[in-house]
Amino acid sequence: MGDHWHRRLLEGKAALFAVVTTVCISIGGLVEIVPLFLIEDPAVANIEPYTPLEVAGRDIYVREGCYVCHSQMVRPMRAETLRYGDWSRSAEYAWDRPFQLGSRRIGPDLHRVGGKYSNAWHYEHMLDPRATTPGSVMPPYSWLADNKVDPADVQASVGALASLGTPYPDDIVAKVPDLLAQQGGAIVADLSTAGVTVAPDAEIVAVIAYLQKLGTQRGKAQVASGGAQ
Ligand code: HEC
Repeated sequence: MGDHWHRRLLEGKAALFAVVTTVCISIGGLVEIVPLFLIEDPAVANIEPYTPLEVAGRDIYVREGCYVCHSQMVRPMRAETLRYGDWSRSAEYAWDRPFQLGSRRIGPDLHRVGGKYSNAWHYEHMLDPRATTPGSVMPPYSWLADNKVDPADVQASVGALASLGTPYPDDIVAKVPDLLAQQGGAIVADLSTAGVTVAPDAEIVAVIAYLQKLGTQRGKAQVASGGAQ
């Protein structure tokens, strides 16, 4: 006797069936993905963009491959929140281009590391991880203390972020050199109280600025979401 209509019209015709399944799966995918692009998270307006020095530090973080060993996403699970702090909110990544979620944790998650240690601790740790943390397998990054941040590079990065929609003031690119010097100077002044002498435009100062910013906008990400989280 004849096959069921389903077999005759669909499974029996491989090419047609492939097209129909592709269409169906695409509709399912679009229904899930499109709303993510349309929802506006009100918390995003509260998230401060990275300062030029932090942008410089972030570029160095990417260049040195810190993301190979460090994630930046605290998952909402007890073991993680006890170890790293409050879990990561999506709005906190609003100006992270590209995001640094990472995929491996050879070292600890860094999404809540801002404010956890002093600037001097970061300085010591990056020059020689074993000095602050015996047995650490993190490599030393001593060249960061000698290499200098080039303001022109930072202007290019900040300009690119602004053109992608990061809410910087219109004259930000022109102000980059001053802003770098200001924030670098403040960090260097703080380091000097701990007996560390380093140039304000050393790359390590930029990385410290970046690390100290990570995770510090948690409150802002929460409040505007209605405080429900
Ligand atoms: C080979 C893997 C590896 C790489 C690459 C690496 N780290 Fe680490 N990192 C670790 C390990 C392991 C630890 C934990 C032990 C320690 O504190 O040194 C750590 C710890 C840290 C900590 C302290 C975190 C905490 O909460 O105690 C910071 C900050 C840090 N790393 C920053 C960096 C930065 C910045 C870079 C890139 C310049 C980097 N790491 C590259 C493995 C790595």
